[in-house]
Amino acid sequence: MTIEVFGAYDHLIFKDMRNTQVVVIDTLRATSVMITALKNGCRQVIPAIEIDEAMRRKRSMPDQNVLLGGERDAVKIPGFDLGNSPKEYKRETVEGKVLVITTTNGTAALRRAIGAKRVLIGAMNNVSAVAKKLAQDPGPTSIICAGTRGKFSLDDIYTAGCIIARLKEYVPEPVLDDLGYTSEMLYQRYRDNWRDLVGNAVHYNVLIKSGFAGDIDYCMQEDTADIVPEWTDGIVR
Ligand code: MLT
Repeated sequence: MTIEVFGAYDHLIFKDMRNTQVVVIDTLRATSVMITALKNGCRQVIPAIEIDEAMRRKRSMPDQNVLLGGERDAVKIPGFDLGNSPKEYKRETVEGKVLVITTTNGTAALRRAIGAKRVLIGAMNNVSAVAKKLAQDPGPTSIICAGTRGKFSLDDIYTAGCIIARLKEYVPEPVLDDLGYTSEMLYQRYRDNWRDLVGNAVHYNVLIKSGFAGDIDYCMQEDTADIVPEWTDGIVR
């Protein structure tokens, strides 16, 4: 199995993903939100890139119970039902509903994975389940980190390293690219004190300043969810 890690979704320009299985991660916080919503009974998640697009998607489903969620600059978008804090996506709020979500980097990263053989949704909350699912297909594998505005983000790299470490339980000697090697090394080095690494991330500090410290603790927990959402035909479920 070959595993490539992309530090931000913009780094995919040279990548042909047709024969590749992909996992997209935005641990802080978009993919953690999607996993939480689906775990709590949300029927499907529709990622949108622009705010207007999200609103159009909601209007196009007048017969469905649709929630609009997401953020710009980490805070809830005016007129939306929910922001990008996983704690808002409780069962009583999302069960049986459709979520249309737009975030700065996470939903764009997901849309950039169009054309891959299959697209899984990952975060620290479901690393072991993701690794187990990836191991079912020994072919080329890419881990796409959403990153932050085109740059890599330590929380996503740490998550990529954790997925690789878990995958090695099933595939002992995967062929890693340089960032795959680096991310696993960082995960192994900081697994008992992740904050010493992730605490340096720009977006970590944006979230702290915006009052979302609790979200970080939630999103950095390993294996609180046993589901691996998959993106097919524009829908995550
Ligand atoms: C994003 O998609 O850029 C993030 O999920 C931002 C956030 O933490 O709200």
